[in-house]
Amino acid sequence: VTYLCVPIFVRDLEQARRDVALATEAGAEMIELRVDDFDDDQAIKRLIDGAGVPCILTCRSQAQGGRSPRPGNVRLASLLAQCPQYIDIELDWNSQAKTPTQPILSHHDFSGRPEKLYNILLEMDKLSVGVNKVVWKARTIRDNLEAFEILQNRNKPTIALCMGEAGVISRILAKKFGAFLTFASLNDESATAPGQVSIDEMKNLYRWDAMSKKTKVYGVIGHPIGHSLSPHIQNAAFAELNHDGIYLPLLVDPPYESFKAFMETFVPFPGLDLSGLSVTIPHKENAARYLKEKGAQIEDLAERIGAVNTIIIDRTGSEPILRGLNTDYAAILDSITDRLAIDRTRLGRLRVAVLGAGGTGRTAVAALAHYGADVSIYNRTREKAEALASEFDGNTGQVLSLPMEELAKSDCDVFINTTSVGMYPKSDQNAWGAKLPKLTPNTVVFDMVYNPVKTRFLAEAEPSGAKTITGVETFVRQAAAQFQAWTNKPAPIELMRRVIENRMSDQKN
Ligand SMILES: NC(=O)c1ccc[n+]([C@@H]2O[C@H](COP(=O)([O-])OP(=O)(O)OC[C@H]3O[C@@H](n4cnc5c(N)ncnc54)[C@H](OP(=O)(O)O)[C@@H]3O)[C@@H](O)[C@H]2O)c1
Repeated sequence: VTYLCVPIFVRDLEQARRDVALATEAGAEMIELRVDDFDDDQAIKRLIDGAGVPCILTCRSQAQGGRSPRPGNVRLASLLAQCPQYIDIELDWNSQAKTPTQPILSHHDFSGRPEKLYNILLEMDKLSVGVNKVVWKARTIRDNLEAFEILQNRNKPTIALCMGEAGVISRILAKKFGAFLTFASLNDESATAPGQVSIDEMKNLYRWDAMSKKTKVYGVIGHPIGHSLSPHIQNAAFAELNHDGIYLPLLVDPPYESFKAFMETFVPFPGLDLSGLSVTIPHKENAARYLKEKGAQIEDLAERIGAVNTIIIDRTGSEPILRGLNTDYAAILDSITDRLAIDRTRLGRLRVAVLGAGGTGRTAVAALAHYGADVSIYNRTREKAEALASEFDGNTGQVLSLPMEELAKSDCDVFINTTSVGMYPKSDQNAWGAKLPKLTPNTVVFDMVYNPVKTRFLAEAEPSGAKTITGVETFVRQAAAQFQAWTNKPAPIELMRRVIENRMSDQKN
């Protein structure tokens, strides 16, 4: 069993009692009482007796990232006097507690991986009872693998965690690798270490209760990644269909070498069961390049676009087999064809204005031109539109670039905004510019921006009766296609849409 432990800084008895109650109500299976600057022994005893779950008592020294100025022997004597189930003692006290209390021998490094990590663990192993605990700040996401290795090779119950945003996955996957415990904060404000996930997120977002050794791991690679909506949508879908999987944010530094190093270490890592990846900014081109270098299969249009947003990792054979897809382009095309009730072969009859020439503009242009649509690109930086047009012109449809000022004269059937103009928090911005082109009830107006759901681009088109498509539609479709590619099950698309819309309204409130 891996305990889900909530640390609580004790400032006074009432506050601590309330926090302990909130934590156990939220599902805490263990409480760590941090008494660094609280020395009312009677109050501490009452807290331990009333907690209702096992307690760790910790009085962390300043040298190890805590607040207590008291010397080790004084702190130890006062902790032991309370008879908690566990006490956390830093390894450098070099103390052997001979009491019914189980010692957690700990070592923390807030600056990076301890130089003598394995010597520290050997030292801890000398005490045959209790629990070993090593915590350090992840330098990159690859440090998590070392934490997993420590757990896999443990001789005693062990805690191995990485701090910081790059270390989040060591906290979440602690249960999969059989750690003694992981820490989750009571709420976002009360975290006692950098990168701690809240107990609500651990239980309701990261599927703590459903996780086991066999759970497959998926995730989204990006930089930054903390605010990605993909973990919300995919974990909800896994839960809905009882798919034994967990989907994580994976922070990987932007250079190609970092992407490559991630793939080369995470894909083969034993026991991790990495089974599928979403790829987002800035790694879609890196993913295409990596898969090409490895000789892996890449879907034709994804290769032509030069961007992969989905990696399937097939682990049914002796070696994992990688495959790359781009579900973004299919989501864009299908959003249009569904709205017009046509199939893809009829896209060739459409004239489409694409606003923007960035990554999403490129995907839209390539996909529409591939199916024979005539595409006009309007972009703030004209040279980028020209380069994009010349790359995809004559594929099957005609692609040209036009000055932004001429957008109002366009009589296209479909207008797609692929710029970031109008995106939260600058939701009052308007991608049309000063004047709208002529829109009719047959025109499709499509915004890739999904936050807010109804952008100004869409709102201004509404009086014409144009058929509008929100960015949520595409976001949900590309995510649903990923879910299907990994699980071979139809995605719960309505649920996925609801999850996104709820998150959007949470952000506004
Ligand atoms: N719904 C979905 O599933 C989905 C999927 C992917 C992306 N998106 C959204 O699509 C948008 C674009 O993403 P991306 O990855 O393509 O970004 P990107 O590669 O950075 O491209 C940004 C585009 O927006 C233009 N732009 C930015 N600020 C502008 C401004 N103030 N005025 C005029 N044009 C401006 C840029 O023009 P320049 O070339 O002149 O810089 C460029 O064409 C984002 O809002 C993103 O959230 C939605």
